[in-house]
Parts: sequence; structure tokens; C-alpha cells
Amino acid sequence: MAQPKHFLSLADIPASELRAILDEAHRRKKARAGLPKGLPDIDAPFLGETLALIFEKSSTRTRFSFEQAMRQLGGSVITATAGTMQLGRGETIDDTAKVLSRYVDGIMLRANSHGALEELARNSSVPVINGLTDYNHPCQIMADLQTLEEKGGQLSDMTITWVGDGNNVAVSFVNAAAKFGYRLRISTPKDYAIQGQIITAAQNAGAKIDLIEDPMKACDNTDVVVADTFVSMGDTDAEDRLADLMPWQVTDTLMDKAAKNALFLHCLPAHRGEEVAASVIDGPQSVVFDEAENRLHAQKAVICWCFEV
Ligand code: CP
Ligand code: NVA
Repeated sequence: MAQPKHFLSLADIPASELRAILDEAHRRKKARAGLPKGLPDIDAPFLGETLALIFEKSSTRTRFSFEQAMRQLGGSVITATAGTMQLGRGETIDDTAKVLSRYVDGIMLRANSHGALEELARNSSVPVINGLTDYNHPCQIMADLQTLEEKGGQLSDMTITWVGDGNNVAVSFVNAAAKFGYRLRISTPKDYAIQGQIITAAQNAGAKIDLIEDPMKACDNTDVVVADTFVSMGDTDAEDRLADLMPWQVTDTLMDKAAKNALFLHCLPAHRGEEVAASVIDGPQSVVFDEAENRLHAQKAVICWCFEV
């Protein structure tokens, strides 16, 4: 039996297929312009198909965008928080995967641990999509790259600068760098750096990555500045993080170092006055709400890829 196409990490998917996913995201977004949000796309390719959405952690964008994505593709969803499932009472991931595979056509999981997501995928006979883990957040980066293409043109001509914690979202920017050809600068305090082996693997695959601790130097003439929360879901050291990471706040001064008209990205939820100044995230260079909208369009294309439409 053919293996289902799982969407777990951008590092695992060939560049040509990721390119095709982004093209499909742009195409579907344009094709349904003007339609009411809850009406299906003209082709409604997933009529009669169901995606399960399982959350071990909180979510606004991922939940609403996946639910609306399936509606627009003509299908439906079943959404559950892990705590209300037997999963939360000790039923194994393996058994959960095997059971859900009998009811639904795909599973999206937001998991505490990436290992649990991989275990779900190993035991599922239907595609599994990563809705964020402690390790990465690939759907987010597909939406981010769609946004940059809409606003700024060619990804391979861009320098993108990550500022702050070397977290799960940052890892997906690293994983995608070799696939899309942008130059990635990463500015984190030493204690919050991305694991060296993740950077090395990306560089060996052809990624152009510069590690520049000083955020002012890292942002010099960059085309895009990206921030994310200093305290991710599951982090238990909030006080230390806030103290250690404050010098990496994206301020107007930092944005002034970037190229004229540089864009500001943030996956949201944001904490104004922590990782980003309100004047930046609410200012003219910020494209965070287009970015949030594109979660919907990018994920529709991801679902189509998994389901081979
Ligand atoms: N960016 C993102 O994944 O948002 P949620 O946590 O609200 O899903
Ligand atoms: N890094 C954040 C992203 C939230 C969408 C977290 O994991 O909480």
C-alpha cells in the first residue's frame, strides 16, 4: 500500500513540491476572490472528505484556518482537544492513529512533542499534518513565504532576519531556507540559539544561513524582519526569558537598520512591548494580518498536496 503523504517538516519535502504547494496557495486565493468566506471553491475537491483536528495546545489561527480551509475545499472537520479525548487519559498515540484512520481522511495534530507527531504519522494510514510542535511549525512558514511573495517578489533575492528566541517557528525558517533560496540571518542570545545540528543540516542541504548575535548588525539592510513570542507554549521559565531576550525586541531603531520598506512578520499571538514594539507591529511595514490570512490559503494547498489533488 502506498504510504500517505505526511506534512511534518519542510526539511523532508522536496523543493519542487514545496514550490508547487505555494503556487497552488496563490492560485486558490486568487480563484476565490470575492466569494463569501464560507462558500466552497469552485472545484470543491474534497467533497465528502473529513480532516480531524487535534490540539494538545491552545490555538486561534491554526484551528479557525484549518476549519475554514476544509470548508472551502468542500470537506468537513472534526475538532477535539487532546484533553477531552482518551489520548488525555493514557490511550496510546499508536491506537489513536489506527482508530482515527478508520473514520477520517487526514489528521492535523498540534502536539507538545514532535516525537508524538512522528509516532502518530508512523501509525496512521491517512496523511498527518503538523499544526505546530515544540520543534517546528511548517504550516506557518508556508503562509509567511506566501505573504513575502505577494508583497516582495522573489524569495531567492531576499534576506530574512529572525530576531529573538531560536524557537519552533525559527526552525521552520531554517528548514525552508535551502528549499526556497533566501538568505537567512539568525540573531538570538547564545543561550536561546537553534541547535547547531539543525543549522548544519540545512547548510549541508544548501541553505544560506548567517548567525549574527547582535540584532542591529543582523538587521542591517535586511528585507524582512521576523519576531515571535519570547515565551512559547510549554516554556516554564518565562521570567528569565523576558529578562534575557528583551535586548532582542524589534523596535523602530532596529527596523531603521533594515532596508527601506523592509517587511515585518510575526506569526501571532504577539506581545506588544516584549518581542516587538507596538509601533512596529501596528506600523506600515507590518504585514502580520495578511500573514495570518495566508494560513488559510497556504494550508488549503498543503491539504491538497497531502491528498494528492
Ligand atoms: N500562529 C499560530 O499558529 O497561531 P495559533 O497558535 O493561534 O494557532
Ligand atoms: N513559538 C510560539 C508559536 C505560537 C504560534 C509557540 O510555540 O507558542
